[in-house]
Amino acid sequence: MPDWTWRYEGYDPAQERLREALCTLGNGYFATRGAAAESTADAVHYPGTYAAGCYNRLTSQVAGRAVENEDMVNLPNWLRLRVRAVDGDWFSPDHCSVLAYEQALDLRRGVYTRRMRLRDGAGRGVLVEETRVVHMGDPHLAGQRLTVTAEGWEGELEVESALDGNVCNDGVERYRGLDGRHLTGVECGATGADTVWLSCRTSTSDIQVAMAARTRVVDGSPPLSPPAAPGGSTAVHRLRRPASPVRPVTVEKTVAVHTSRDPAISDPVSAAVQRAGRAPAFAELLASHTTAWESLWQRAEVDVRDEAGHLLRLHLFHLLQTLSPHTAGLDVGVPARGLHGEAYRGHVFWDELFVLPFLNLHLPEVSRAMLAYRHRRLGAACQAATDAGLAGAMYPWQSGSDGREETQRLHLNPRSGRWLPDHSHLQHHVGSAVAYNVWHYCAASGDTDFLYGEGAEMLLQIARFWARSAVWDPAHERYRILGVVGPDEYHDAYPGAAHPGLDDNAYTNVTAAWVLTRALELADALPAPRRAELYERMGLEPSETERWQDVSRRLRVPFHSGVISQFDGYGELAELDWEGYRRRYGDIRRLDRILEAEDDSVNRYQASKQADVLMLGYLFPPAELSALFGRLGHRLDDDLWTGTVDHYLRRTSHGSTLSGLVHGWVLARSRRSEAWSYVQEALLGDAADVQGGTTGEGIHLGAMGGTLDLVQRGLTGLDPGPDALRLDPVPLPGLSRFHLSLRYRGHWGVGLTVRHGQLHVSAPESAQAPLRIALGDRLETVPPGSSVTLDLPAG
Ligand code: BGC
Repeated sequence: MPDWTWRYEGYDPAQERLREALCTLGNGYFATRGAAAESTADAVHYPGTYAAGCYNRLTSQVAGRAVENEDMVNLPNWLRLRVRAVDGDWFSPDHCSVLAYEQALDLRRGVYTRRMRLRDGAGRGVLVEETRVVHMGDPHLAGQRLTVTAEGWEGELEVESALDGNVCNDGVERYRGLDGRHLTGVECGATGADTVWLSCRTSTSDIQVAMAARTRVVDGSPPLSPPAAPGGSTAVHRLRRPASPVRPVTVEKTVAVHTSRDPAISDPVSAAVQRAGRAPAFAELLASHTTAWESLWQRAEVDVRDEAGHLLRLHLFHLLQTLSPHTAGLDVGVPARGLHGEAYRGHVFWDELFVLPFLNLHLPEVSRAMLAYRHRRLGAACQAATDAGLAGAMYPWQSGSDGREETQRLHLNPRSGRWLPDHSHLQHHVGSAVAYNVWHYCAASGDTDFLYGEGAEMLLQIARFWARSAVWDPAHERYRILGVVGPDEYHDAYPGAAHPGLDDNAYTNVTAAWVLTRALELADALPAPRRAELYERMGLEPSETERWQDVSRRLRVPFHSGVISQFDGYGELAELDWEGYRRRYGDIRRLDRILEAEDDSVNRYQASKQADVLMLGYLFPPAELSALFGRLGHRLDDDLWTGTVDHYLRRTSHGSTLSGLVHGWVLARSRRSEAWSYVQEALLGDAADVQGGTTGEGIHLGAMGGTLDLVQRGLTGLDPGPDALRLDPVPLPGLSRFHLSLRYRGHWGVGLTVRHGQLHVSAPESAQAPLRIALGDRLETVPPGSSVTLDLPAG
């Protein structure tokens, strides 16, 4: 059985940020990096706390221009809990001799522990043991228990428990030229015998944030004198206790967090103070927290027996901490870097494409909430399309609070020090990702209310956008979509072109054709009154849907040298000297930065950041992809597909953690022997910080979710349709024994076990109709409370 503990031994300042990100604790409402409790932000440490969807907008001066950015705000640091001998310095591994140091994350219970033995300059030793939780049952609560044992001396210890409002967004070096001071109006106070509170507001979005901390010593001694009314921007509570080797001091800190976005509160400060005050003692808090995690693990069971199981469990843990059942009640999307750091400013990209298909079969209410986030911003997406002279919904590449385009227009190349134009907002394919998720969420859950309601509104508007974007080219006798950027963000213009954008990105066009086809299908399936209402509201005429039909069949897919071209003209770009660059630079994942720093441009070469054309093999099972190409008038046979896979495999630098995942997924079906190294890269993406320093700035949630989905859908070929649960497994030796528990429509807890070349499916007891399983030509019916074992095709 893979281990449930994620562990680090020894203190290593160079690794601290990585460990902080991977030891983050969260509950979907908020999360806090696994920073040392005694630390403040400096070159080594970065305690960060983020509430889902809490953004703020600031304007900075960059390269002589005013640049506006919206960021997920780093909230006051509630972790601060430190200790010293009354006449000494605060104990910390940075300033003391470190005799022992251990950090462990108990993934099953969601508990972080840190244990260190330190000796200060005066030779006083201490054993410091901290246990920390961010409560999974009550999303507004967190707690710490700190036990300090004096080793070889006796004396008085001072413990400081604080809420530190003196924080800003400073976690990503590249953004340091930008203003990161988002909090204002910090006020602190004390209440009762043991509680301090802090309140502040975000400077432009005007969200009030309040925290309260109750600190108690657990030695049965009389209550402490109340904390002095704190001033300044930190609410501090200090207390003293005698300590000796036989008399450890244990302190419990219980923290409550509220913001003015919360429902059912009067005001954030009183809500936080009350909640902290009413919270039970730490042991009880720990028990209810553990129970909440237990049921969450049951709902999202993925048990992989091979070595990869440990990493997958870590991925699932962080996924569930970012998107938990509590998230279902919030107006938030899928943050690309979790709630674990400040990279990409907490923005929402297309990464939900890699996360929702997994969640659909475990926490469908969370998927629905993520889609509701998109639906609430449908108006903004339609406005963006109108502003661009188009129609329908043009979803932003990066989305934050209100759904406007948040992609920065300048980005820094740290290698050259130059600020450069950023054209990644031209990735309009994000709209297809939204549509794909609507479709697949509804197929897996059977939620026709959503499909006919918000789902149809989004799908039809996205289809309208694609149809309107497509222009007829008589020379090719095809529709074309011009001036876009595909998933491979390296190419954003033709070499030497005055304008950004590329024409006929195959991924964009094929997914657009898919969206149009699905939209037409849905339009037919809508109950007549709803169809009439929707058409009326959208001003949709039959002539428009006729055009959708036409565009869905005649969008252009470019080809060159017997392979699908990433975009029109891709085949004419120069070949890169891959070996030469690897020799010179070693790691060439960020080839774009390397070439720009050489005054060259990646736009000149057949060199991609990540899977682009091959994304098609990730999204669509082989038969569906062939049918899609067939509809577009092309024959997609094995030769064309394997030739295309070969072509791009040799020309991709994997500058995104999504790349290894997609390549592993695609190769598992086309060239299995090579799949494993890509899958491994995806599995190790964050644990080994494969992209060199990026994990410390936040986990890569898409890749984490995607590796789980690789087991769930990639290797099983699972396609949860309305008529049956279709399966089309492919073996991958490194991931050959696993068990999943799924929620498929009315069946809660469908068991799917792959082992020894067999597939075992069990249907849970229920009053539902029997489960229908399709494996190749075989159709099996599994009544509730029974199971079936099928031999997997050899291969
Ligand atoms: C990738 C995008 C991804 C973004 C956020 C970028 O590096 O190229 O595909 O959406 O990171 O994860």
